[in-house]
Amino acid sequence: MCGIIGYVGHRDALPILLDGLRRLEYRGYDSAGVAVLEDGQIVVRKAAGKLARLAELTQRAPVHGQVGIGHTRWATHGVPTDENAHPHTDCTGDIVVIHNGIIENFLPLRERLQDHGHHFRSDTDTEVIAHLIEEAYARLPETPERMETAVRQAIAQTTGAYAIVVLAREHPDRIVAVRQISPLIVGRGRGETLLASDVPALLPHTREVMIIEDGEMAILTPERVTITDLSGTPRHRPVQHITWDAEMAEKGGYPHFMLKEIHEQPRALSDTIMGRLDVEGRVELEGVQAPAEFVTALDKVWMTACGTAYHAALVGRWLIEHLARIPAEVDLASEFRYRDPLVAGTTWAIAISQSGETADTLAAAREARRRGSRLLAITNVVGSTLAREADDLLYIRAGPEIAVASSKAYLTMLAAQIMLAIDLGQRRGTAAPELLTDLIHGLRALPGKVQAALALEESVAALARRYRDVEHLFFIGRGLDYPVAMEGSLKLKEISYVHSEALAAGELKHGTLALVTPGVPVFALVTQGHVYEKTVSNIQEVKARGAEVVAVAYEDDRSISRHVDQVIRIPRVHDLLAPVVAIVPLQLFAYHVARERGHDIDQPRNLAKSVTVE
Ligand code: G6P
Repeated sequence: MCGIIGYVGHRDALPILLDGLRRLEYRGYDSAGVAVLEDGQIVVRKAAGKLARLAELTQRAPVHGQVGIGHTRWATHGVPTDENAHPHTDCTGDIVVIHNGIIENFLPLRERLQDHGHHFRSDTDTEVIAHLIEEAYARLPETPERMETAVRQAIAQTTGAYAIVVLAREHPDRIVAVRQISPLIVGRGRGETLLASDVPALLPHTREVMIIEDGEMAILTPERVTITDLSGTPRHRPVQHITWDAEMAEKGGYPHFMLKEIHEQPRALSDTIMGRLDVEGRVELEGVQAPAEFVTALDKVWMTACGTAYHAALVGRWLIEHLARIPAEVDLASEFRYRDPLVAGTTWAIAISQSGETADTLAAAREARRRGSRLLAITNVVGSTLAREADDLLYIRAGPEIAVASSKAYLTMLAAQIMLAIDLGQRRGTAAPELLTDLIHGLRALPGKVQAALALEESVAALARRYRDVEHLFFIGRGLDYPVAMEGSLKLKEISYVHSEALAAGELKHGTLALVTPGVPVFALVTQGHVYEKTVSNIQEVKARGAEVVAVAYEDDRSISRHVDQVIRIPRVHDLLAPVVAIVPLQLFAYHVARERGHDIDQPRNLAKSVTVE
């Protein structure tokens, strides 16, 4: 999520670091910082806000040195402030760290370190790494490998996903970095070595790169790059030549941010879940602090959102009613405040918003609070207005989403609500423990299932070529398939400009069936076992009018192909988790239709990523 740059060589590091961070700006960030080794001391400059603030700061108080690291932060723990910006130092200021990712077990580590006298200056998970390295350093003898060993010993105590980059005063000739899931690329120049989270930051200096793999450490000096595994055994890494231009590099080699973000979904889902399912199979949602009496006495959950977040809420409603046995309502935020709603002190209001800044959602959330409800915000942006105003907070940790059409935020909103519903089901004792255990297992397996669904891309792209010129099409589904149909339809409209409509399958016969004529494509979602036969009957209704039906069904569904023209087969999951997987081929379909039609996919006409006016 965050941007990383590092330099060790013969040139002044600061301008190289700032330029690298500028080239990573497109990814979105909320604060930035650098650390440079100047005359044997580590000097840190960091500031919340845009890079211009950091640039100003370093102009007023310059730092000079040939070794340095830089970071743009996209907050996951702790709001965007100067203190929470990276780099983070240990107690002595002799060790400095930047980090991309999440340290899952940072809370117990932080408590232990504090008990041992370590002083923390930020709310971040990252800072524990600096103190762990400090502790390990103190135990080790003065050898040339002391820094690498200390870093290894420190990270051995952490769990999570990360790329960590470290400078130490005692070893002024090097940068040490470790990768566990979050990307890290090393670039080789003449008498200098760079490192970055993304290729664009390296391109002005070199196209010769080495990819650091999961579970590896890289030790960078001006002349050498050493790659080892986490026990110190050297690993050979061939140098690769990057041929991407700057624009391709920003999109990680994908032609559009939307496609990149669709492919990032397995990672994003892992981040959402990380650290929130404990070993005993309980859900731990750190920011959701509603007391037990409130949760037990709840008589209504009321949810509000706009656009894609609204579709996510429709899934959430179903899950909460099913697992927590609380009546749940969902309102479009733009409608809610004009209908004299019945929400009060025994209602839990839940507002869902990727940006946390959507004007209608904020107004609806405020209205609910004004009427006495406790407010839970489910949002992506740490410290957003919605997050600041809420009583309870559940961050979806999707990472920055740049394409206007939302993809990974939707999936992570679903995962966050599944965890919330499980938690409520556990706390209220309203769901069978075996069901909750099944769902927790299913949740852990979801990133892999979504990864498998992404493999459908080629066949979905062929379908998109077939339907690129249709005038309109329909999406139908029942139960949890219905909100997925709505989201699939919205995706298609947003970026391909093809008219489409989503219908609860049973509702077709009450009007829209009149529009189904020979050759009209109908996408039918059939993942919900308890209404399977009913949906099949609706498929037969449209088939009888000549529709071409494409089903989205589980890979082991043997009977569906008898009723439809084509089947998109998704991995089998628990029916309650199906929306997370079933939407993936529909996102890809919308994307490929839009591409076939030659549209500006990341910036569709008339639409904005964040709508801050009513
Ligand atoms: C805009 C975006 C949509 C998004 C909606 C709500 O319309 O284009 O993708 O779903 O706003 O945004 P939010 O940030 O509140 O989730």
